[in-house]
Amino acid sequence: MRIMQPLPGFRDFLPADCAQRNYVFSKWREVARRYGFVEWDGPVLEPTDLYRKKSGVEIVDQLFNFTDKGEREVAMRPELTPSLARVVAAHEREFKKPLKWFSIGQFFRYEKQQRGRLREHYQLNCDILGESSLAADIELVALCTDVLRGFGFTKKDFVVRISDREFWIDFLKSRGVAADKWDDILQAIDKSEREPVEKTRTKLGELAEPAFAILSATGRTGRGEQGGEKSEKLDQLVDGLRGRGLAEFVEVDVRVVRGLAYYTGIVFEAFDRARKLRALAGGGRYDNLTGHLSDGSVNMPALGFAMGDVVLGELIRDTPAACEQMQNAIAATGKIDIYVVIAKEERRADALAQIQQLRDHGHRVDYPLAPAKVARQFQTAEELGARVALLYGDEWPQVKIKNMATGEQTLIAKEDIIARMQSAPR
Ligand code: HAM
Repeated sequence: MRIMQPLPGFRDFLPADCAQRNYVFSKWREVARRYGFVEWDGPVLEPTDLYRKKSGVEIVDQLFNFTDKGEREVAMRPELTPSLARVVAAHEREFKKPLKWFSIGQFFRYEKQQRGRLREHYQLNCDILGESSLAADIELVALCTDVLRGFGFTKKDFVVRISDREFWIDFLKSRGVAADKWDDILQAIDKSEREPVEKTRTKLGELAEPAFAILSATGRTGRGEQGGEKSEKLDQLVDGLRGRGLAEFVEVDVRVVRGLAYYTGIVFEAFDRARKLRALAGGGRYDNLTGHLSDGSVNMPALGFAMGDVVLGELIRDTPAACEQMQNAIAATGKIDIYVVIAKEERRADALAQIQQLRDHGHRVDYPLAPAKVARQFQTAEELGARVALLYGDEWPQVKIKNMATGEQTLIAKEDIIARMQSAPR
């Protein structure tokens, strides 16, 4: 096996990649908190059966699973929703409803590696549990929209496509399709935009013609229409978003059905407007999942969405305004405050004593670990974005302070350094 490269679909995170990841995570966290969501997390390894029960065949086929040393069938988590339903069902009495929980974590799917799809990725998950009213669906779509707006995207860059699974369930019922076939058919419809028509036709069998008729007749509308029929629920959802000034970010689109098996009602997916990329985010209502996993002992309405970091990163890089916002944010957080220039090696011990104090006071301080020319040290100070350089040399017991922006230099007694650095603007 080649050991000098990561496995296919896995990434190394070099410092610049970590800076981007931190930026994405902090934006996710910031916007979720703006909506009053609290953070939680689950284990990365779960019993394989947790996903067999209700995630659907596609995800089960993609599991990174194995038998552990205790003969347990386990899987690296491919998604968070089943863990969430399990945790909430187990701790149901401990929390006031509705719960508004978010989580940021890594997920693993053995997928064919392609643009926007890797074998590990990070997701922001936001879920509301214990609320069946449409107000929760509106809140969630608004949150998904605002997370994307937070990255500097506008209505020209992305759209949230909204649909209602009940429409498709009604369609299947009206055609007399047995309930155990629904998952496969809904998955085929979900994939129909990405797969050759013939493949979808084979999967759908005699349902192909009526389903294609619906898909081509409806497409995108601004209003709550599905399959030519008015949907009051979708109308109300769009109205709710309009009231918040967010209607221009959404479109009703019957082609969205979602691949996962547990969805029961409103479903949605966010895409780049140019439709060059895979989905940025997806989610919906899954009112029966806690009931299914707890064998009926806890039944809690629920809804949520997840946004992945891979497609999001691609769209940020492809969108100049969003890219500039990210670079500015990274530049602002990556800088150090103070660079200590050790001009005379005899002063190294004195400098280090003060460096320790400055760091204890919360300043970001760096210095050369090995002797170096003074000019080289100033160059490093500049490269690291230091606000000031402190020079320890012949002036001791005074220290020279250089304002790196203006070049202005002043001398200050060593005892006054800490107070001076505390009062200097950060
Ligand atoms: P999902 O649509 O499977 O939904 O995934 C959500 C997002 O994660 C996708 O839109 C995509 O951005 C990203 N994603 C998924 N798989 C990959 C991959 N292999 N590589 C890169 N990115 C990927 C769920 O996972 C649901 N559990 C969401 C949910 C939360 N529903 C209710 N609550």
